[in-house]
This record gives sequence, C-alpha cells and structure tokens, in this order.
Amino acid sequence: MILSKSAKPELPEDVILSVEDLEVSFAAGTRAQLRAVRGVSFSIARGETVALVGESGSGKSVTAMTIMRLTEYDGAAITGGRVLMRLKDGKVADLAKLSEKRVEALRGAEISIVFQDPMSSLNPVFTVGDQIAEAVIHHQDKTPEQARQIALNTLKLVRVPDAERRLDQYPHQLSGGMRQRVMIAIALACRPSLMILDEPTTALDVTIQAQILDLVRALQREIGMSVLFITHDMGVVAEVADRVCVMLKGEIVEEGSVYDIFAKPKHAYTRALISAVPRLGSMADKDAPEKFPLLVFEPERLLAEVTE
Ligand SMILES: Nc1ncnc2c1ncn2[C@@H]1O[C@H](COP(=O)(O)OP(=O)(O)OP(=O)(O)O)[C@@H](O)[C@H]1O
Ligand SMILES: [Mg+2]
Repeated sequence: MILSKSAKPELPEDVILSVEDLEVSFAAGTRAQLRAVRGVSFSIARGETVALVGESGSGKSVTAMTIMRLTEYDGAAITGGRVLMRLKDGKVADLAKLSEKRVEALRGAEISIVFQDPMSSLNPVFTVGDQIAEAVIHHQDKTPEQARQIALNTLKLVRVPDAERRLDQYPHQLSGGMRQRVMIAIALACRPSLMILDEPTTALDVTIQAQILDLVRALQREIGMSVLFITHDMGVVAEVADRVCVMLKGEIVEEGSVYDIFAKPKHAYTRALISAVPRLGSMADKDAPEKFPLLVFEPERLLAEVTE
C-alpha cells in the first residue's frame, strides 16, 4: 500500500512532543474499564518545561508512562490518540503505534524518565559508573572505556562532587540527593531531547529538593532539552515550569503559562490547587504524595464546582 504524504505525522518545527487525544484504560473486572487518561492533549516545545499537576490518581503517571510506552506492562491499553515525537534525525514518530522493538531503541536515547524513588530504580549490585555506562553502551556504539568516560562527564554535568571516586561506588553508599543526581545522570547519558521527571523531589528534604530543582533548570539552560515535570507541589511548579497542564480525573482541565495559571486561574480546581499551595518541601518527610487538603476536607463542595 502506498501511503499518501498527508498520512505522515507532522509537527510544527519547534515542537518536540505532541500528545493528542490520548486515551488509556486499565481492565477492571471482566467488563469494566478504568479510563485513567481521557482525551489528554498537550505539547512540549524545544527547551520548554511543562508541568503536569493534579491530585493523586488524576492520571499524571499513567500519562507519563504511556508516553514511554511502559503502561502496557501494567495491563493498560492505549485506546485512542497519538503521541507524536520529533526524533533527533528530524523524523516524527507516533510513539503510540511503534513496535516494542522501535520504542525500546528510543527509550533513553530520545526520551527518558526519572522516578521519585531512586533507591528502587537503581540496581544495588552495580556501581554508579557501570549503571550510567550501561545506558550508553545499550544505545551507542561505544567501548567500555568510552562509556566510562561519558559516565564520568555526565556525573560532572549533574554536579556530583568527587565524580571520579563516585563512579566506583554502589547506590547504598550515596545520600538520597546524590542518588537522585545519579538517576538524572542515567537519564541524561544519551542526551535525550525530552526528560520526564515524575515527582523527582517529593521524597527529598527541602534543601536537597531546591538543589535538584536548580540542577534541572541549569541542565536545561546548558543542554536545551525539553522537560515534562510531574508534581503535586504548586510551589515546585512556580519554580520550574514555563507552562502548566492541570489534570483532574484523567482529563486536562486547564492549561496555561505558569504566569497565567498563578495570576488568573480559570478553573475552580486550579484555584483550589493554588489556594492549597504547600511550601516547597512541605511534603518531604512523607512517604507518599498526599491528596490536596481541600480535596480531603471538602470533596463534595469542590467536586460539585468542577463537575460540568
Ligand atoms: N497498574 C495499574 N492498574 C490499574 N489501575 C491503575 C494502575 N496504575 C494506575 N492506575 C489507575 O489509574 C489512575 C491514574 O493513576 P496515576 O498513577 O496516573 O495517578 P497520579 O496522578 O500519578 O497520582 P499520584 O500523584 O498519586 O502519583 C488511578 O485511578 C489509578 O488507580
Ligand atoms: Mg504518579
């Protein structure tokens, strides 16, 4: 079959990722489906940081994991929409439709993800250097020596002090903040054009949170990558984001520049989030992200307001 030219996915020149009408469902029982992501659309420009915010269970991680094509391993299915990504070679691919083999080759190389808990993402039995080098060797035709050199440079890029010595250490020998830097180094090792950070600072104490946020901003200035930053914390949003998408029950209910979202929020839910702004770091000593206080204490009032 000859595809017409218009069948090729296209993106505006400055756009790295465009999620269009994405639908993701989990099987729930024999007939029911849990629609975790419902018609979500947003785009990320080159060098831009987009924050995805919303209460626990609103679909932020499922959106992120679907972009990486990882939700299918949890039993989810993409039931609609497209995830267009501009690759380094200039071509545009629909990640939602690629074969697992092709997606595998793109993970880490074009797009990577950093999770909240670095201890469960790092392998305890391999050194930091080996774990970063492995990411390089997996995607690039490098010798172990070249990969080690790239690992060292990347550790320096994420401001790990005494990087040479750290290369040969194991994850348990590092502090929480240092481990998170190592996770960011692994994510950056192949210089992807998009990095997704899913609650990367929530488990860290306030000083370390601020340092990681500084690092993300500095990296963006230096290497110009795009960032999708997922967080509960509107304080963090104000610190890092250019643009904000607010999620509620699987949908994006409001989108705007960080200025507009804070200065003139339109949706009742966005106003509720802002009025419940936790101080930077106020969730640091919690094991897991929490519901916004307003939703915990006055759910009926809020839901009545936001249900169209
Ligand atoms: N593996 C899974 N199996 C079934 N349902 C799931 C699974 N993972 C997520 N869900 C459901 O999908 C919905 C969205 O979850 P998601 O993890 O994206 O929320 P979130 O916005 O990231 O929340 P949090 O802020 O707590 O991380 C929730 O209703 C959740 O219960
Ligand atoms: Mg999540």
